[in-house]
Amino acid sequence: MTNGMRIGILTSGGDCAGLNAVLRAAVHRASRVGYTILGIKEGTAGLLTRPLQYEVLTPDQFDGSMIRAGGTILGTTNKGDPFAFPMPDGTTRDRSMEIIGGFRELGIEALIGIGGDGSFRILKKLCDLGGINLVGVPKTIDNDVSLTEVAIGFDTAVQVATEALDRLQPTAASHHRVMVLEVMGRDAGHIALNAGIAGGADVILVPEIPADLQKVADKIEQVRKGGRNFALVVVSEAVRDASGDTIMKKFADGEIRLGGIGHFVGDQIAKMTGAETRVTVLGHVQRGSMPSWRDRMIAAAFGSHAVDLIKEGKFGHMVAWSNRQVIDVPIEDAIKNYHSVELDDTLIVTARELGICLGD
Ligand code: F6P
Repeated sequence: MTNGMRIGILTSGGDCAGLNAVLRAAVHRASRVGYTILGIKEGTAGLLTRPLQYEVLTPDQFDGSMIRAGGTILGTTNKGDPFAFPMPDGTTRDRSMEIIGGFRELGIEALIGIGGDGSFRILKKLCDLGGINLVGVPKTIDNDVSLTEVAIGFDTAVQVATEALDRLQPTAASHHRVMVLEVMGRDAGHIALNAGIAGGADVILVPEIPADLQKVADKIEQVRKGGRNFALVVVSEAVRDASGDTIMKKFADGEIRLGGIGHFVGDQIAKMTGAETRVTVLGHVQRGSMPSWRDRMIAAAFGSHAVDLIKEGKFGHMVAWSNRQVIDVPIEDAIKNYHSVELDDTLIVTARELGICLGD
């Protein structure tokens, strides 16, 4: 390893708030230790095209405005596993060697991969195969990466969902309605649980707890009997219906994705309780905003520590947040388990203590 090393950096998987703040921190730290950072475009896809899609990132590009900017200036993708890359004729092809060739062409000695568990699995396989030194930075609004208390983007997503409840509450009260808010999070209920508690929800449904909608209807009745004429219900997108299945939908692009649980729950509540019900599907609003102060602060620590790991030759590690400190853990350990909501999670216990219905 030489000083003046060339480090690749990429954002991979779904975007979220705080990615540019990570890039900014990594670029500033790298410039202080004499490393050159090459930003690869669109995840690993930037290395599948010729000419290669990348740009040298310099500190002057990253003034204060970048810490505030949502999205990722590098672009990203949550499709196109290079080991089974979808080809136009419907087949898949292993294109991993093209990407490894791209790394070599650019003279990249180490890679900072900013991604979730799915991206880390792919990047680790690629880097092991190509002899590239990988350091990971966890990002995902779902907060489902193990061994870190938080991933970049989660705090902002929870803030957006909480604000949505703040806005739904007065209109719910004015019209005597039950408002259902569907939030993202894939198979983990962290956004629903955190925002639901922070936003004063009466019901929080998470994928980890199969939902008995009779219990939800009972809770609405109980709220009514207590003299309140409205209720707030938060539903995680992958909550299972009575048959134990998530609700999937075939979209116009032919893809089958999660979709519809909010409306399903809303309809059931209306049928079972007679309450006038409205449904809000929050969707990508949760990913698109200006990062919260906490996401910016953790992004600064993550981006900077990622460069330090490279400096120390500590490869194969992911930066993580634990007990108000930036630490690092082996990527292999972080991707071993999925970080869903534990049934004895302090927030599950808190919700129960507050009388919030969790659908069980
Ligand atoms: O993983 C992040 C996430 O926003 C999930 O919460 C959600 O299910 C999914 O990505 C949406 O993906 P897309 O951007 O492809 O619609």
